[in-house]
Amino acid sequence: MTTTMKLFAGALLASAFAMPAHAQVKEVQMLHWWTSGGEAAALNVLKADLAKQGFGWKDVPVAGGGGSAAMTALKAMVAAGNHPTSSQMLGYTVLDYAAAGKMGDLTATAKAEGWDEAVPKALQKFSVHNGKWVAAPVNVHSVNWLWISKSVMDKIGGTEPKTFDDLIALLDKAKAAGVTPLAQGGQPWQEATMFDSVVLSTGGTDFYKKAFLDLDEASLKSATMKKAFDNLAKLRSYTDANYAGRDWNLATAMVIKGDALVQVMGDWAKGEFVAAKKTPGTDFLCFRFPGTQGTVAYNSDMFGMFKVPADRQEAQVALAKATLSKSFQSAFNVVKGSVPARTDVPDTDFDACGKKGIADLKDANAKGTLVGSIAQGYGQPPAIAAAYTDVVTKFFHGQIATSDAAVTELVKAINAAK
Ligand code: BGC
Repeated sequence: MTTTMKLFAGALLASAFAMPAHAQVKEVQMLHWWTSGGEAAALNVLKADLAKQGFGWKDVPVAGGGGSAAMTALKAMVAAGNHPTSSQMLGYTVLDYAAAGKMGDLTATAKAEGWDEAVPKALQKFSVHNGKWVAAPVNVHSVNWLWISKSVMDKIGGTEPKTFDDLIALLDKAKAAGVTPLAQGGQPWQEATMFDSVVLSTGGTDFYKKAFLDLDEASLKSATMKKAFDNLAKLRSYTDANYAGRDWNLATAMVIKGDALVQVMGDWAKGEFVAAKKTPGTDFLCFRFPGTQGTVAYNSDMFGMFKVPADRQEAQVALAKATLSKSFQSAFNVVKGSVPARTDVPDTDFDACGKKGIADLKDANAKGTLVGSIAQGYGQPPAIAAAYTDVVTKFFHGQIATSDAAVTELVKAINAAK
């Protein structure tokens, strides 16, 4: 589906989804964009958990990675006074709905369950609004990863790229061997998500913070940002001819099948490897994007909890409790590719990439190198994030011709969105 079709489908879905007056009170209605194989498998863990407790599930899926189609559908539902019990949301979107007075109050559940102590403060900045818990964090994803086919790596005799130049050399080897070097999904959110890593790698963590978290204009139009666009253009030259419009999970499938060497993507990609019964070390490799080792550019899926009538609160509280229970946090995240949204969940059941993800998060949190992904809703509010995405994707698809022009457009677009 094209983005326009998805938006259209999302809007249709929003108008079709009307909560009947006699709706089951012991039911959770959930809007989400988890429609790939790995994502659906992860969501099933939650459905099964709630079913065991006697709660029904009304699924409101809106396809489209990164969630922009889902958020358009949600907006329409909320405007129609027809919001679900809960919706998957990213960072600043939670705060927007909370500021608009749309969210419920889960503080009593949070206190009883010890969320204040267990959930990392970086996440609480987005799940707590004016001292009230308004969302339940489900996980922590991070975007600065490489997902590599082990069979292609063996074929070309490659090793872990430690620097951006190493990565380019590795991509060249794949090209020489006749394999598509970079499995790219050519959709705006995917290109922007990749650019987060490229900027971190090109300029370092402090530069990323200044440019994207502080919106320091000198950094946004600096020679370093230009270099980051140059590096993005280098990566573009390693995609196959059919990358435009490709869904992220189809790009992951290219790596899973050994048709491409590497995908640069958040660790939801690992959910696809897991669903295909692939093992890290044997079938695929996970490395941090070269030059970003020690830094974690994160996002967290949150279940935003809307204000619901009194008779529906029991189901909402059950959903919230299940989401942040230690056992669910392990079972779900093992399948999803993310890591727990609590600091006290053992890594025992996680594979090698999951264990690395948990250790990296802990380490980055302690060192001050845990940064919000701007592409994924944790760097800036939606309008600014959209302006960023727009410039990156126009550059990637050649509508902005040079890195010089790209930085000029970036500053202009961000200022207009402020
Ligand atoms: C979400 C992930 C999801 C990915 C692709 C991201 O925005 O955080 O949970 O798997 O989009 O759909």
